[in-house]
Amino acid sequence: MPNPDDTIDVPADYAQRRSRLAQTIQQGVVVLPTAPEQIRNRDAHYAYRYDSYFYYLTGFAEPEAVLVIIAGATPRHILFCRERDAERETWEGFRHGTELARGKFGFDETHAISELDEVMPKLLADQPQLYCHLGSDSHWDTRVLGWLNAVRAQARAGVAAPAIMHDLHPPIDEMRLIKDTHELAIMRRAARISTGAHKRAMRMTSPGGTEYEIEAELLHEFRRYGAQAPAYTPIVAGGANACVLHYVQNNAPLRDGELLLIDAGCELDGYASDITRTFPVSGAFAPAQRDVYQMVLAAQTAAIAVVRPGVTWNVPHDTAVRVLAQGLVDLGLCQGSVDKVIETGDYKQFYMHRTGHWLGLDVHDAGDYKRANQWRALEPGMVLTVEPGCYIRPGAGVPRHLENIGIRIEDDVLVTMDGNEVLTLAAPRSVADIEAVMRSRE
Ligand code: GLY
Ligand code: MN
Ligand code: MN
Repeated sequence: MPNPDDTIDVPADYAQRRSRLAQTIQQGVVVLPTAPEQIRNRDAHYAYRYDSYFYYLTGFAEPEAVLVIIAGATPRHILFCRERDAERETWEGFRHGTELARGKFGFDETHAISELDEVMPKLLADQPQLYCHLGSDSHWDTRVLGWLNAVRAQARAGVAAPAIMHDLHPPIDEMRLIKDTHELAIMRRAARISTGAHKRAMRMTSPGGTEYEIEAELLHEFRRYGAQAPAYTPIVAGGANACVLHYVQNNAPLRDGELLLIDAGCELDGYASDITRTFPVSGAFAPAQRDVYQMVLAAQTAAIAVVRPGVTWNVPHDTAVRVLAQGLVDLGLCQGSVDKVIETGDYKQFYMHRTGHWLGLDVHDAGDYKRANQWRALEPGMVLTVEPGCYIRPGAGVPRHLENIGIRIEDDVLVTMDGNEVLTLAAPRSVADIEAVMRSRE
């Protein structure tokens, strides 16, 4: 049977990452399963998504697979995966099987996944330490402990079980924080698809439409250009819905005079993009909407401007907060000096989230934000979002003309050697650019 997957080359990057991890830990065994399949209801499954850590080190997208690395002077890289199965492949599609997977994905050994419980105690025997991640899946935790106990049971035969267990995530997190050339190429393509989707959404929006129609336009554009899925549930929030931070119902009508906030990004070959744009349903900002928009845009522009190597993680956030605090005072939403508004946290009534997060295989990507309790410094190759906002719910002291305005502007920013590169610039952001795109609707 022809299998298109079989013809796609697997870049050497995955094997290189495994070698780097083996070098980092120096000795011991790494055990890393991919994600389990998840039932949605009865016998229908959710679309399968592999585990990001597993995929980062293998490029292998099938379920029921486990990576094992035996570190040491001569590291061994081992994959457990499903065997070929003519019957199952007729129903569910192509499987690589152990033989093909070994050559194509660059493993020293492969075994059938059905042999995992038999082989693992042998691989763990006389190894000083085990790197795995416990606490996410109790079924997996029990299996790992079962293998350890199987090795411990051989103590009188002189076999030693690993005496030290480490969490596997931290060493991989550090690697995932700095994107390599292969990752950045995918992230640029993901960003390009998502910026196209936001432009399409702007062109398709008009009073009388609905949030879900615009969601459909985003999903159309993602899939049309080869992205496998949205990286997270899109937020398509008209009017007051934009003041609900995680609004995902996306079922309300779009009304003249209101803004539409869209937070949507595709996932391409495992990598997320994450973009928010806010624009008027009618195509033209009303004066109050424009004032708040310009404030958020100024905060974002200032925050992006400080992104460069050596600057600590908190600086873009603190920069955005200062601009927003000044703007909130100017709009009459906060009282007193800017310093006081920041010190008391009064601004949090209107800006209650942080200004960004790491971005990569996961939309809220792996990696610590602090080291030794200090905000860490940005380094070339890191990718973060910069996403200030302002959400004005009706309340005491809120003037009518500002009520229910919710605005966020979010871009994906790569830290370069001497500054930054905004990967998502192609999505219109200035008032003039947004209004120009929307004028081109007719
Ligand atoms: N779309 C998720 C976020 O902006 O963090
Ligand atoms: Mn984000
Ligand atoms: Mn977002």
